[in-house]
Amino acid sequence: MNNSSIKKFYNELGGEYSKGWVNPGMKVISNFEETFVRKTLEGVVEEMHPNKVCVLDIGVGSGRISKNLISFDSVSYYGVDIADTMVSVVKESLTGYPGFREVKTNDISKGIEYEADKFDFISCIRVLKYNSNWKWILGDIYRVLSKDGTLVFTLPNRCSLNYFSRGKLPMHGTTIKGIRSVLKDLGFRDVHIERGFKMPDIMYYVTSNEKLLRLYVVLEEVLYRLLGPAFSRGLYITCRK
Ligand SMILES: C[S@@+](CC[C@H](N)C(=O)[O-])C[C@H]1O[C@@H](n2cnc3c(N)ncnc32)[C@H](O)[C@@H]1O
Repeated sequence: MNNSSIKKFYNELGGEYSKGWVNPGMKVISNFEETFVRKTLEGVVEEMHPNKVCVLDIGVGSGRISKNLISFDSVSYYGVDIADTMVSVVKESLTGYPGFREVKTNDISKGIEYEADKFDFISCIRVLKYNSNWKWILGDIYRVLSKDGTLVFTLPNRCSLNYFSRGKLPMHGTTIKGIRSVLKDLGFRDVHIERGFKMPDIMYYVTSNEKLLRLYVVLEEVLYRLLGPAFSRGLYITCRK
């Protein structure tokens, strides 16, 4: 795997990545994703209480997800990213939190640089899509998860209108049937696919009007009731080892 283009793109982007999330439309999506990760971790924290929960955030970016993970008192937080700039940004913002352990550079397409069975919870949000060997990576995530550990991750859904919009980097996706089969083969259990958004990203990206955004929420709800998670543009998945 040569992921130099991903590394270059995110090294150049650095902290600017967070600016893509500030407009009200993108905040709707971000709030949904942050709640999805936080709620799942909340369940793990309750289940493991009073023990510490060892957490790995894969592809920390500028820390959008990480800040939710480290906000739990009982979490020991570790993060990795292929881009040194992203690692520096997150290190700077999280050092000082009691649960902070380390953030380091690691290209996970070549292997996650931690020992087997280390983590009780792993998040990998908006990362696997850049990696053509994402199935292999899921196998490596399985290796570093502890017994009964929980993984939350996202992948683009090939069965959605949004799949055909082009970003600056090549993207890889799957289908609901496809990901269920991959996870089963790897040994994951309790696979759950959360609702996602069905309307194209661009509509959220360009919309700041609060009333229009409330209408989108209603439309998404109607589409979800009719179709379930099918045709969502992103698949939001939880599963356990
Ligand atoms: C779209 S950003 C998502 C950041 C964060 N997870 C979030 O949702 O806000 C993708 C991040 O994944 C990182 N990434 C992509 N491929 C990676 C790889 N093979 N190993 C480690 N990090 C990777 C990128 O450098 C980038 O910081």
